[in-house]
Amino acid sequence: MLSFGRSRNQSRFGRSVSFGGMDYPDPKRKNNFVGKIILAASLTAICIVMLKQSPNFSTPTPFASHQLGVTHVLVTGGAGYIGSHAALRLLKDSYRVTIVDNLSRGNLGAVKVLQELFPEYGRLQFIYADLGDAKSVNKIFSENAFDAVMHFAAVAYVGESTLDPLKYYHNITSNTLTVLESMAAHGVKTLIYSSTCATYGEPEKMPITEETSQAPINPYGKAKKMAEEIILDFSKNSKMAVMILRYFNVIGSDPEGRLGEAPRPELREHGRISGACFDAARGIISGLKVKGTDYKTHDGTCIRDYIDVTDLVDAHVKALEKAIPGKVGIYNVGTGKGRSVKEFVEACKKATGVDIKVDYLPRRPGDYAEVFSNPTKIKKELNWTAQHTDLQESLSVAWRWQKSHLNGYGNSLVMSS
Ligand SMILES: NC(=O)c1ccc[n+]([C@@H]2O[C@H](COP(=O)([O-])OP(=O)(O)OC[C@H]3O[C@@H](n4cnc5c(N)ncnc54)[C@H](O)[C@@H]3O)[C@@H](O)[C@H]2O)c1
Repeated sequence: MLSFGRSRNQSRFGRSVSFGGMDYPDPKRKNNFVGKIILAASLTAICIVMLKQSPNFSTPTPFASHQLGVTHVLVTGGAGYIGSHAALRLLKDSYRVTIVDNLSRGNLGAVKVLQELFPEYGRLQFIYADLGDAKSVNKIFSENAFDAVMHFAAVAYVGESTLDPLKYYHNITSNTLTVLESMAAHGVKTLIYSSTCATYGEPEKMPITEETSQAPINPYGKAKKMAEEIILDFSKNSKMAVMILRYFNVIGSDPEGRLGEAPRPELREHGRISGACFDAARGIISGLKVKGTDYKTHDGTCIRDYIDVTDLVDAHVKALEKAIPGKVGIYNVGTGKGRSVKEFVEACKKATGVDIKVDYLPRRPGDYAEVFSNPTKIKKELNWTAQHTDLQESLSVAWRWQKSHLNGYGNSLVMSS
């Protein structure tokens, strides 16, 4: 470490020598003084060079300060399926975007697509970080001037959550607390939170409204509900504008074919119905297993509400635009229309053009017959309704991306979770 100091018996500007009552400056001291200034200047210059070369030093970027007329959104989980689609929409709408992702489940390839579409300086930056690391998260918030956060990052498979519940409570509940703490500490004004219909559990009455009581039945739903509660408690005494969006089953992909859904192969067994349909159509799995044909529904199979990702990200942008300081808005994001598993499979067969083999098996314990939303509140308050409600069309769009990306986003970095 470098230190600059002076000895105790030196006056501030050096000594003077007395000759017969007159004070003359000591010429040697003058040289020392000049030398010291030169030395100090050189050392300062070296320090600046060293600091500039250090990874922690960077010249201010457009991301580091607020800019009038530009809304800077932190998109956590922006390398994932929904987060990347949200980032694309935000960038198209002229928002400034920072993606933070640990790539445990997302794809760097999706970020590259976005960077190629929006290469202009100050539009998009990617930060590789784990939200479980509170120090890193706080550093990100201290180095960037965010106006809003869309918090998508999460592990998000119901089946996996029953096998590894602690991972879910940590990744969802604890990491949301970390993000919220950093937001509060750095005065970020708006939070849009990704929640889920899994927080409702098995309600007796359909459709599900925002007033339906929440009684989740698996760790995924419970972890999301706990995160919601933390946010709600915090909001009681805060000026932050908060929107909690509870999504139903998300399907589809970018209609222009730039982004898609590319989950890790190892998550296939926990996967979602659209992924399973495409895997069956591609011959990766031998066919589909539909569990339960004796539910009290029109064709005996379970009914779900499928929301297209394009509509979902539109709901986020509307939520961001309409978020009010000090208020919390909670909204279901669904079509309001339930579709049976049989209908879904038929739509998938038509979309892919493949006569997928389907085995009908007994019920799986824990599955509920019918889940669909009542989207009245979001229509009334945010002026949002689902536009892409043709199941076959949504699946056709997603299938086009799947077919042209047989290896997902290709050789993206794969990090362990
Ligand atoms: N896909 C659905 O049907 C659905 C339904 C309801 C709610 N949701 C919610 O939407 C959000 C996004 O889901 P998705 O389907 O896009 O999932 P996804 O797995 O495709 O994306 C999640 C992203 O978060 C990242 N991530 C996970 N943990 C992280 C951490 N600790 N630090 C940094 N990044 C991390 C992953 O790498 C991934 O890129 C989740 O919060 C999920 O719970 C999804």
